[in-house]
This record gives sequence, structure tokens and C-alpha cells, in this order.
Amino acid sequence: MYKILVKTEDGETVSFECGPNEDVITAAIRQKILLLSSCREGGCATCKAECTEGEYELSNCSVQALPPDEEEDGSVLLCGTYPRSDLEVTVPYTYERIAFNEIRTEWLAEVRVCERISSNVMRFVVQCVDLESAAPLKVPFIPGQYIDIAIPGTEISRSFSMATVPSGDGLMEFLIRLLPNGRFSRYLLNDAVVGQRVGLRGPFGAFNLHDNGLRPRYFVAGGTGLSPVLAMVRQMQETRDPQETKLFFGVTHQHELFYRDELLRLASTMPTLAVEIAVMQPEAGWQGTAGTVVDLLRQYLAQARVKPDIYLCGPPGMVDATFKAAAEYGVPKDQIHLEKFVQSHGAGESQSLLEGQLAPPRMAGSEHAERVP
Ligand SMILES: Cc1cc2nc3c(=O)[nH]c(=O)nc-3n(C[C@H](O)[C@H](O)[C@H](O)COP(=O)(O)OP(=O)(O)OC[C@H]3O[C@@H](n4cnc5c(N)ncnc54)[C@H](O)[C@@H]3O)c2cc1C
Ligand code: FES
Repeated sequence: MYKILVKTEDGETVSFECGPNEDVITAAIRQKILLLSSCREGGCATCKAECTEGEYELSNCSVQALPPDEEEDGSVLLCGTYPRSDLEVTVPYTYERIAFNEIRTEWLAEVRVCERISSNVMRFVVQCVDLESAAPLKVPFIPGQYIDIAIPGTEISRSFSMATVPSGDGLMEFLIRLLPNGRFSRYLLNDAVVGQRVGLRGPFGAFNLHDNGLRPRYFVAGGTGLSPVLAMVRQMQETRDPQETKLFFGVTHQHELFYRDELLRLASTMPTLAVEIAVMQPEAGWQGTAGTVVDLLRQYLAQARVKPDIYLCGPPGMVDATFKAAAEYGVPKDQIHLEKFVQSHGAGESQSLLEGQLAPPRMAGSEHAERVP
């Protein structure tokens, strides 16, 4: 047995034992210590940590969840880490996120809205309900986290980040990219109906706001990466956080743009918030920024008097490019928080059934959709 010492972001520690043939997450669970994890098969990066002392072997870590350069720098996925000596690891979250009792992670919800809001994005709203009484139920989560949603009647589930803050009526909003050949995409387009029941598992994830005094916060979102970013900004609005806040939102084509009005409305109610939208390949007449969110970030960082905290979310390529740009402008690594929308674990087995279905778009207001206030 080896000793595993886990250090949290706020300087607390927790320790437990781990044998050479078990991974660190499993060993912790055996001793009733629930570190953050989700897939437990090296695919989602929820359990990512930094190993600062000791020898270990890594197994079953996907390249997307743990790129080789991060592995070289000492990052590990704890669900695939097998100790070969005592270990010291640092996790990117606070002590209060570690549970020491069983926590509820299985939920039932009813579909409230399923509508297309751009050429490749669906807005999906569900309400959690009590299994027996069907009364609305509030799922406790931290804005920025995600949940796994199961496709009704199948064993297939996919991870999606909540765009809302936890609410008393249990409504949870998701912004979901339609992917060619995607199983969940096909469900949304063909089978999701208002009132249908779906199973949820979670919440998971450590992508959330960090206490930072009055340092400015910059949020950078690519496509549906807007979802967790919106949840965090909505949280700041609710708690009237005073930090100067910038939100950079980018898509490739204009027809992929969504939530422009929602973002402008948010900015009009938050004096501290400025929103900038970039379209990489705009059509003639586009009034906003032509380019990427990385271009926007560079512009603002070049003028920034204080190095801001940066929150990044979107496709892996966009997140990596933004991270690099922030580092070039001297933003310390521990001020950059990110979530990559990699393929959900267990995904990729779908058949080529969605080809040609991504156009023409069925926009909000169709018979399939029902708006909530
Ligand atoms: C923590 C986390 C949170 C996420 N939150 C969101 C969210 O809020 N909104 C959202 O739109 N997405 C989100 N994603 C990504 C989403 O879970 C996946 O893209 C999902 O697998 C898509 O499901 P699908 O069934 O439609 O496609 P799948 O059946 O899984 O895949 C269809 C095809 O697309 C490819 N593919 C799947 N996902 C991706 C990807 N991300 N990038 C490139 N190619 C891909 C597959 O290899 C396959 O060929 C999140 C992912 C993670 C890990
Ligand atoms: S829980 Fe370890 S990568 Fe998903």
C-alpha cells in the first residue's frame, strides 16, 4: 500500500492508501473519499490533477483528456493513475468539493424545451422532478459544471454543461452542438418531445468561478462553449460580483451565431460586463469583429493594466490556441481555467444516420418547441 496525499487549491490536504493495482480514484472511493471524477475511464478529464512527488504508471488516458505535453509537465488523470511509490498530488479545486458521504448523482427530468437556435445549435431545457410525486426538484450544482444526459430507451449518454444557475423550479438549460452522425444530435432532431422523461447523472466537473479578490475576469467561449460561461456570468449577475468582466464569444459562420440578444440583454443589466462577438468567416455587411476569439483576447490583453483571470471553454483547438495567447501575454497559468468540449466518453459508436439532416434548420417556435420564460 502506498500513501496518497491530495492537496487542494485552498491548501487543505486529505490522505488515503492506494495499492499498486488500483487507480487513485477507486482507492479513494473505497475509503469513502469522493474526489471529483466522472467517466473513470480516462476520457473526460474531470479527475485531472498534478503529481508533484512520487512514481506512478498511467493507463487508459485519452490523448484529448491528457495531451502529451501536459503529461510531460506532470499532469495525471487520477482515474488512470497507478502508484509505484507514495504520491503527492494537487487538485484544481477546493476542499469543500471533496465529499465524504455518498452523494446523489442519479436524477429524473422532463423535457421542457427543445428548439433549434442556429444552424448547428439546439437549446434543450429540462426540469428535474421527483420520481414518485413528479414535483419539481432542485439539483444542487455549481455554475460551470456539467451533467450526463441519457438518450431515452438506450444506455447511451452524453455530457453537457448547464447554461443556467441552480434554480428552485429545477429548470436546467443546455446549449448543444449538432454533430453529423451524432447519437444525441439525432435524438434532439428526431425524438425529443416536450414532457418526455430523461435520466441524468451528475453533476460533475471542476470548471467554476474562483475567488480572486477584485481581479478582472475574462470569459472566452467558442460555439456552445458559451454554456458553462453563461452559467458563471449569470451567477456573477445574481450575486452582483463587482469584478470588471469581459465575455468574448466566437463562431465560425454567421448562421451559427446564437444568443446575441441574450448576451446584450445580460450586459445591459450588468454594468461591469462587456460582450464582444467575433465571427471568423462573416458575410458581407457583418458589423461586428471579423476573426476569432483569440484575436479579441489578444487585443484586450495588449491593453490590460492588470492580468485578468481567464475562463476558456469550447472545442479543444480553440481552447489550446487561447491558452497559448494568454500565456504569451504573461497571464499566470493558475489564473487560466478551462474546459475542453471533447467527445463524451463512450461516444463515437454512432452510425452515419444524420448526414444531410443539419439543414434546413428548424428554428425556435416550431411545433416541437415550447419557450419557458
Ligand atoms: C465535460 C464536457 C462538457 C460538455 N458540454 C457540452 C455542452 O454544453 N454543449 C455541447 O454542445 N457539447 C458539450 N460537450 C461535448 C459533447 O459531450 C460531445 O460533443 C458529444 O459527444 C456530442 O454527442 P453526439 O451524440 O451528438 O455525438 P457523438 O455520437 O458523440 O459523435 C458523433 C461524431 O462526432 C464526433 N465528435 C463527438 N464529439 C465531438 C467533439 N466534441 N468534437 C469533435 N468531434 C466530436 C465523434 O467522433 C463522432 O464521429 C461536452 C463534453 C464534455 C467532456
Ligand atoms: S474521471 Fe478520470 S478522465 Fe473521466
